Amino acid sequence: DRTFHIGVIEGDGIGPELTAAATAVLEAALRPRGVRLEFHLEDAGAAAHRRTGTALPDGALERIRDYDALIKGPVGLPDVRHPDGTEAGLLGGLLRGGLDAYANVRPMRLLPGVSAPTTHRPEDIDYVIVRENTEGLYLSRGRGVRNERAASDQLLLTRKGVERVVRRAFALARGRNGAPADGVRRVTCVDKANVLRSFAFFRDVFDEVAASHPDVEAEHLHADAAAAALVAHPARFDVLVMENLLGDILSDLGAATVGGLGMCPSANLGDTAAYFEPIHGSAPDIAGTGAANPTSQILSAAMLLEHIGHVDEAGAVRAAVAGAYASGAVALDDRGRPKGGTAAATAAVLDGLGRM
Ligand code: NAD
Ligand code: IPM
Ligand code: MN
Repeated sequence: DRTFHIGVIEGDGIGPELTAAATAVLEAALRPRGVRLEFHLEDAGAAAHRRTGTALPDGALERIRDYDALIKGPVGLPDVRHPDGTEAGLLGGLLRGGLDAYANVRPMRLLPGVSAPTTHRPEDIDYVIVRENTEGLYLSRGRGVRNERAASDQLLLTRKGVERVVRRAFALARGRNGAPADGVRRVTCVDKANVLRSFAFFRDVFDEVAASHPDVEAEHLHADAAAAALVAHPARFDVLVMENLLGDILSDLGAATVGGLGMCPSANLGDTAAYFEPIHGSAPDIAGTGAANPTSQILSAAMLLEHIGHVDEAGAVRAAVAGAYASGAVALDDRGRPKGGTAAATAAVLDGLGRM
């Protein structure tokens, strides 16, 4: 009988509605096993920045390192900005950098019962985007230059940075349930090695790592071609690994093929720290209306369960989510919002969990 200490950043906009759903699901999944959870609220994000002048208070990073894991809602409010025009309430740099959480694992899965804008069958869309999370173009955050006439940011990749995220991608491909349609374990390197030196470097380091994983097929795809293939031929993909900005963009593209951003969870993984959040933002357009799809946050909680060693409970949460869509208990409208609202969608998952 043990207690897990889970940090919680509720986030901005729809964040609090979503994290409430996720903590309820975590409780429901672990309580029957006699496992206790203690949630530790961390006040962080754009609203916190507006109130206190900082998005992540002193000491928070140290506490977060000590928790068993952290569940994070989306943060950010478009009007909380730095003088340079970028947003001040975001935590990406502070948490991903601060915790050295270098692999952003973003599974994309089309669930039976979820309508999507293509004609693919659910079994055709089941792949994982591994986004490098600590360098690439994002390393330039706050360091770019800008004047009246021009502006620039630098895309920097390091051998250490590329190597470790590519290793993660291969490890994931080896350990994953669910192979692509042709049954071949595969890691796809997505880049623009045809144009930019930094990406040619990424590809070369990828090839070196691939050579020590002969049991996994390695392939390359230019990012523009990858965007098309993710829509037209998703069944061929297993694990994809790519630079930070490319991963940001292609994962939202993937989300559109599986029912929208509200379907997509993620794990930010380092060697010693981990946190779990939806891939989407704070959705200011629907905040406070109870319209958001909580699935992204609930599936992020499932990834957290797996991370803390409760693999069966993670599976139960995923099965409850899948069951809720398959039975029609949760149905999405054409904007990816559950027809009965956030609370009813959460209740349907809790119901399913209760019956397992
Ligand atoms: P967004 O992802 O918040 O919203 C894009 C569209 O998707 C909106 O129409 C929104 O209503 C919809 N949407 C998003 N999540 C949904 C859900 N769970 N259910 C139903 N619909 C959903 O992107 P944006 O508008 O570009 O950004 C809004 C804010 O969020 C910005 O401040 C941005 O910087 C921030 N952001 C934060 C994170 C994060 O914390 N990880 C990620 C992305 C964006
Ligand atoms: C994401 C978000 C963040 C990113 C923003 C809010 C900094 O879009 O997690 O995908 O670009 O990484
Ligand atoms: Mn994004």
